[in-house]
Amino acid sequence: MKRENWGSKTGIILAVAGSAVGLGNFLRFPVQAAKNGGGAFMIPYFVAFLLLGIPLMWIEWTIGRFGGGFEHGTAPGIFHSLWRKNRFIKYFGVIGIFGPVVIFIYYTYIESWLLGYSFFALSGRYAGITDEAGMVSFLRGYQGILHNEYFSGIKTAYLFFLATFWLNILVIVFGIRRGIERLCKIALPSLLVLALAIMVRVLTLRSPVNPSWTPAGGLGFLWNPDFTALQDARVWLAAAGQVFFTLSVGIGVILTYASYLKKNDDVLLSGLTAASTNEFAEVVIGGSIVIPAAFVFFGPAGIGRIAGQGAFDLGFVTMPLILKTFPAGTLFGFFWFILLFLAGITSSISLAQPAVAFLEDEFNISRKKAAAIFGITCFILSHFAIFFLAKGVVDELDFWGGTFALVVFATVETILFAWVFGIDKAWEEMHSGSDIKIPSVYRFVIKYITPVFLLVILGLWTYQQAIPTLLLKGAAKENIPFILITRFILLGLFLVICLMVKKAWDRKKEPDYMPQSLFEINGEEKTEGEKE
Ligand code: ALA
Repeated sequence: MKRENWGSKTGIILAVAGSAVGLGNFLRFPVQAAKNGGGAFMIPYFVAFLLLGIPLMWIEWTIGRFGGGFEHGTAPGIFHSLWRKNRFIKYFGVIGIFGPVVIFIYYTYIESWLLGYSFFALSGRYAGITDEAGMVSFLRGYQGILHNEYFSGIKTAYLFFLATFWLNILVIVFGIRRGIERLCKIALPSLLVLALAIMVRVLTLRSPVNPSWTPAGGLGFLWNPDFTALQDARVWLAAAGQVFFTLSVGIGVILTYASYLKKNDDVLLSGLTAASTNEFAEVVIGGSIVIPAAFVFFGPAGIGRIAGQGAFDLGFVTMPLILKTFPAGTLFGFFWFILLFLAGITSSISLAQPAVAFLEDEFNISRKKAAAIFGITCFILSHFAIFFLAKGVVDELDFWGGTFALVVFATVETILFAWVFGIDKAWEEMHSGSDIKIPSVYRFVIKYITPVFLLVILGLWTYQQAIPTLLLKGAAKENIPFILITRFILLGLFLVICLMVKKAWDRKKEPDYMPQSLFEINGEEKTEGEKE
């Protein structure tokens, strides 16, 4: 079966930027920044962006295009293409399918709330609520956690979930060009325009409470640097985690998108453009909405309090209350939720694509069939997230799929690329067909700094978070059975994907050694080691 290609360079850049720009930019980033001291957070954030984010972006674009040349669009096949002689490396690649599936299971549910709230904003369903307690009760009613005057069960949320979930699958059925690329070409510019409109409005606000609480004061909170924070490991971990999450690196999705590139398509400038677009959406726009708005309404002390309530309350409770006070508040409320929905769907389709590509590439089945298998499996699994949200199931999925798997995957792919494949070939592969030449300091960064940085983070995370999480430290007693069942399901899912990888390779009986570079295939060039 012939693999698909992107229609244009702009198309793939917008698709990768669409995957990156998500709820992380507008909700998670301000909360992380506020929790970790504003200006104190931004220095480690930029360091992590330069030493982890950008290198990982380039690595994933490069190995994705490389693997695509061997008709592999997902990490098991891509890793195997990079290290033919090792029979086990493909099983490390399983993380790059497992992680996106796990995130997809809960991400689409949260995305569906945004669709629901877009309707509620327009129809005025929460218009009468004037305080935080009222909005929290509205949200808990919608989630089916409380029965109250707003909702009598989870029915409404479930209907919006059905619409959102199957809309995602529909886009996937339409494929790379007609589905993903077409949606991202419309959705990404639209959401950026909506976000800019809200940003301009927020930056021209006057405080109804205290005239000295200006939007500029909110920006100062984010931009006044604090060098003492560099000594705090927690701030570094939070910054690195945010860089992973926001850029969608370490998940496994960017390599799949890049596998649909052609052999001589540029990866370096395109990767840089996608990463820069994401940073513009995060730091410039995302940083200029929630924090200045909260500062104007609640003052310097309010920012910390609001950040402490987490990203969901900020998005679904605080922001709608603030936006309601604007002239044309209904419209601004709608803009807010629909922009987040668009940001969400362009990310969730990228989470769906690896599993679908795996079925297509490695089992040679049609896209429709692959999307159906993926859709039905995830649909069933999503019900745990929907019905046991209050039992900590989503947090558990997010920890293993959305945090831990990312760091492990990023560490494996970086070492594989820079050390096993080898930095010489890696550098050559990165620059093949490239529109730019990157500063040679990045050769050193990719070989030494990024892997060491990742290993340190992995060690710290394992010690500080994974071990306590594994031992259920801090988990509420009544949630423990649900958490254990979730783990059991996750383990089962991981093993099933491992078995599928085994089956796929048994079927194909691929030789253990094949040419390691596209140059070699074309007989144009051989690396020194291979000439011997
Ligand atoms: N990168 C996506 C986000 O920021 C997952 O939400």
